[in-house]
Amino acid sequence: MTTKNPTNPTFLIKGLAGRKTLKGVAHINGAKNAALKAMAAAVLFNKKVRLENVPHTADIDTMAAILEKLGAKISWIGEQNGEAEVVRDHIMEIDTTTMTGTTAAETGTEKNTHTDIDPTLAAGMRASVVLTGPLLARFGKVSFPAPGGCVIGARPIDLFIEGYKKMGAKVTLEDGLYKISAPNGLSGMDDFFHTISVGGTETLMMAAVLAKGKTILSNCAKEPEIVNVAEWLISCGAKIKGAGTSTIEIIGNGRNIGDDKKLLEPTKHFVTIPDRIEAGSFILLGALCAKDLVIENCEPKHLTAVLHLLNDSGVLIDTKPNAVQIKGNSRVNSSFKSFDIRTKEYPGFPTDLQAPAVTFLTQVTGESNILETIFEGRFKYVEDLETLGANITVLNPREVRVKGPTAFVQSVEKEVGGGDAPADLYAHDIRAGFAIVMAALTAKGQFVIHNAHLIDRGYEKLEERLKALGANIERVL
Ligand code: UD1
Repeated sequence: MTTKNPTNPTFLIKGLAGRKTLKGVAHINGAKNAALKAMAAAVLFNKKVRLENVPHTADIDTMAAILEKLGAKISWIGEQNGEAEVVRDHIMEIDTTTMTGTTAAETGTEKNTHTDIDPTLAAGMRASVVLTGPLLARFGKVSFPAPGGCVIGARPIDLFIEGYKKMGAKVTLEDGLYKISAPNGLSGMDDFFHTISVGGTETLMMAAVLAKGKTILSNCAKEPEIVNVAEWLISCGAKIKGAGTSTIEIIGNGRNIGDDKKLLEPTKHFVTIPDRIEAGSFILLGALCAKDLVIENCEPKHLTAVLHLLNDSGVLIDTKPNAVQIKGNSRVNSSFKSFDIRTKEYPGFPTDLQAPAVTFLTQVTGESNILETIFEGRFKYVEDLETLGANITVLNPREVRVKGPTAFVQSVEKEVGGGDAPADLYAHDIRAGFAIVMAALTAKGQFVIHNAHLIDRGYEKLEERLKALGANIERVL
């Protein structure tokens, strides 16, 4: 859960009071949600793998720490020119050949627990559950903590558990720890996801690559990050068809546990696709705070749902093959039109842009209904927007109504900001954190954004990148 711990890093922001003075080029990093899965997939390989365009966010560091505890070796490398100047970075190498697959119970020591996912690290990042598929497929066993609730609601893992059982694995749950074993390897199966799940699709797809026989996964998620990982695995010999559609077919390579000859061969590097959520975040920010902003190194076709709504709202946007440009955006924000949002699986409106989009909608004229269909409880940030003056009605845990425009101020009630002292705002999760940063930047006054470490989970050095666009923002440790 979110803590209001004063020792966390904070962002100190002086708002633009509605002026649109940010400008320049925002360079979009690789998608953390693709890179995290490629890191998990490294367990399927017989040699060191190389991942490129990996964003250096805190979630990537957490996944690296989990893999290291499982016995893998991880290094960040840069490429230098003749003058020892780094010309390419964001490259990670992962060597899983040092993982032996032993458990704590077998070795009688906390060392060499190569199939026990560290509970404390896993608690900090739900995406760690995707590691269970590759670990189970490679070593025939894995243990990991049952996830509890998190700040955006309960996040079950029944699809993973049911899938492993169908693949022939035995599952037990003791003292909050799942223990899964398939000593003879996994078998192919047919599965239908009762709920469309990104992590479920990716994890069972990865596990099926080393299984015996054919796996057919139906009602799959179609997110570009899934395609990114699938294409890499295919280029290294995996037999996967249909990634990016609702049915994925995998012909497993029939591996027996311990047969390292049947692991994948890293004949190609993984190149992370641009982060569509980061790009969407900067586009929404630019719409409110910049007359001219280039969002570079993104994939506009992954952003259709967002661009479409912003275009209808009146924001002037040009799309290029690898960039989006906000151009001649000198209209006052209150002249933009409101719109309704219903979050959906890809290619629908992404739940991860719901909070930044709500901040946008507080500034435009009219009423907007926002229906969150993916996660319950993803509106905790609303109370922070309200302290700035936003007119938002929470209709139920999945739906809010926004009435705009509201010119945000440091403190609606005098005591909130304590006179001249900056007003306190909180990041509740990665994306809600960005939404609050956006809100503070549009507002009049000074703000402290607490829990900035949650923003760091998904945005690399956000404050430096915003500063380069002209924002008045500092990290305070
Ligand atoms: C991923 C993204 C996250 C994004 C989400 C939805 C990563 C690391 N995270 O999360 O940023 O917000 O997709 O686009 O890629 N569900 C079940 N049973 C399961 C698994 C999921 O019912 O076993 C439900 C969830 O509660 C949720 C829905 O499926 O209601 C979708 O969640 P899912 O797509 O699995 O999200 P993640 O993969 O965790």
